[in-house]
Amino acid sequence: MPVSSDDTFLHEDNAALIFEPLKFRRLEVKNRLFRSNLSGMFDDYNGHGGNARLNWEEKFARGGVGCIISSYTPVAVRGRILTRYAMIDDDDKIPFWRAVGERVHKYDCKFIMQLSHSGRQQDLGGVENLHKKGLSSTDKKDYFHGLLAQAMTVGEIQEVVEQFAQGARRAREAGLDGVELHGANGYLITQFLSSGINDRKDDYGGSWENRSRFVLEIVRAIRREVGPDFHLQMKINAVDHNDWLYPWQKKGNTLEETKKICRLLLDGGKGVDAFHISSGSTFPHPRNPPGDLPLLDLVRWYDGMLSQGTWARFNYWIFNHGLTARLFLALWRWRRGKIIEGINAAYSKALREDIRKVDESIKVLCTGGFQHASKIAGAIRDGSCDGVTIGRPLIANNDLPQILREAEGPTAGKACTYCNKCLIHDLENPLGCYELSRYEGGSFDEKWNNMIEEVMSVFDPPTFPGAPTSNVAAANAATQDPPAAQ
Ligand SMILES: Cc1cc2nc3c(=O)[nH]c(=O)nc-3n(C[C@H](O)[C@H](O)[C@H](O)COP(=O)(O)O)c2cc1C
Ligand code: SF4
Repeated sequence: MPVSSDDTFLHEDNAALIFEPLKFRRLEVKNRLFRSNLSGMFDDYNGHGGNARLNWEEKFARGGVGCIISSYTPVAVRGRILTRYAMIDDDDKIPFWRAVGERVHKYDCKFIMQLSHSGRQQDLGGVENLHKKGLSSTDKKDYFHGLLAQAMTVGEIQEVVEQFAQGARRAREAGLDGVELHGANGYLITQFLSSGINDRKDDYGGSWENRSRFVLEIVRAIRREVGPDFHLQMKINAVDHNDWLYPWQKKGNTLEETKKICRLLLDGGKGVDAFHISSGSTFPHPRNPPGDLPLLDLVRWYDGMLSQGTWARFNYWIFNHGLTARLFLALWRWRRGKIIEGINAAYSKALREDIRKVDESIKVLCTGGFQHASKIAGAIRDGSCDGVTIGRPLIANNDLPQILREAEGPTAGKACTYCNKCLIHDLENPLGCYELSRYEGGSFDEKWNNMIEEVMSVFDPPTFPGAPTSNVAAANAATQDPPAAQ
C-alpha cells in the first residue's frame, strides 16, 4: 500500500506539517526530518573518530534536519561490520562523540547514537576478528554471504548486554541526545529476535517472548545506566521477509509478532520511547535500502568480501556473469516491488496504531525512500508515522530540508535515483553520491570531476591542522555560522 497521495494539500500545508516540532517523551526535535543511519569508513582503523566524520555529520545539520541518527556504532570490537567506523566500546571514545554532538548542536540539530553489534553479519571485521566466528544466537552461518557463526553462551549474552549498557552510558556522558538500538536488518539483535534465524533451545530461543529476552535485557540494562529520562529508541523490522531471496529459508517474524515485541519493549512505560521502522532480515535486502543493484559497481566492490563468507565466491560468480547477474537483479526488483518512497509506511502505520493503544506517548519514525514533501506530509497526516528518517536522498541533497520548505522536492535530475551506488561503493570508497547523471557538467569529465570533488569534500577541513583545504572546504567554512532557527 503506498503512502496516501496528498495532491489535495497545498505545499504550504505540507511544509507546515513537516516543520512542526516533534515531542518525544524526553526529547524535542525541531522538525519531522531525521537523517537516517549512514555508515561510512571515515575514521581510524582502531575505532577512534576523525575529522571526516565531524565534517560529514555537520553537512546534514547545516542542511536543516532536526536530528541525526548516527551510523552503525559498534559497542564492542567483536561487533563491527567494517573497519574505520567510530566505536563506543571504551570511555576513551567519549571526547570524540562529545565533539560530534557539539558540532551538530550548533545548528539546533539533535544527535542520537545507534548502538550496534554485528553478530555474525560482518562484512570486514578487521584484524581483531580474524579467524573468529561471529557471535550469534545460532551456529548457522548467514545464508547470504556464508559468514560463520557461533551460538553465544549465556555468559557471552550477559557480556554483550553490558556492552550495550555501557555504550548508552558513554553516549549520555558525551552529551548526546539519545540512543537507538540497531534491532533491524540482520544484525545481532535481529539474530535473536527473528524466528527465521534464532534456533536456540534455551530461554533465549523458541517463543517470541524468549527471542525478545536478549533485547529486553539490553533495554533494562540501559535504563539502569542512563535512568528514565534519556531518550531510547529501537530500529526494528516490521516484517523480516527472511525468505525473499531464498524461498527455502524460514520467513521470519510477521507483523503480528513484531506488534507483540514492540509492546513488550515498552516495559510498562519504563522501556523504549520510540520505534524506527524498517524491514528485511539481512543487509542489504531488496526492501532495504529500497532501490536497484548497480551490477557494474557490485562486481567491482564485492571482491572485498571474497575472503569472508563461504558463499562469497559463488555470489561473486553470479554477479560477474551477464545472465545470472540479470536474473538476480530481476529477483531483487521483483521482491522490492514498485513502491520505493514510503515502502515501509503501511507497516509503520499498523505498528503505530497498535502501540498507541497501549501508550500514546510513544512515537514512530519510518524509513525508506522519502524525498518529496507530499509523501512525507502524507505519511505523517495519515498516521503512518510521526516523522521520517532519510538516508540516500540526503546524501544526494544535503540541503533537502531547505528544498522541502520551498518546494515539493529536488528539481529534475537532482533527486536521488535510488541506484544504490553509494551503498556498493561504501565497501571500499568514501561514502557519497556516485550517480554521475546527478552532477553538473556538459561532458563526462566535467561530471566526473564534480562527483569526485563532492565525494572527497568530506575530508575538508582535513584532520591535520594547518593542512591546505580545497575550494569546497573554503565554501563550507564561509557558511560555518548556523542558519537562523528553522
Ligand atoms: C550507504 C548506506 C549506509 C547505511 N548504514 C546504515 C547503518 O549504519 N545503520 C542502519 O540502521 N541503517 C543503515 N542504512 C540504511 C538507512 O539508514 C535507511 O534506513 C535506508 O537506506 C532507507 O532509507 P533511504 O531510502 O532514505 O535511504 C544505510 C544505508 C545506506 C545507503
Ligand atoms: S548514489 Fe546517489 S542517487 Fe544513487 S542511491 Fe546513492 S545517493 Fe541516491
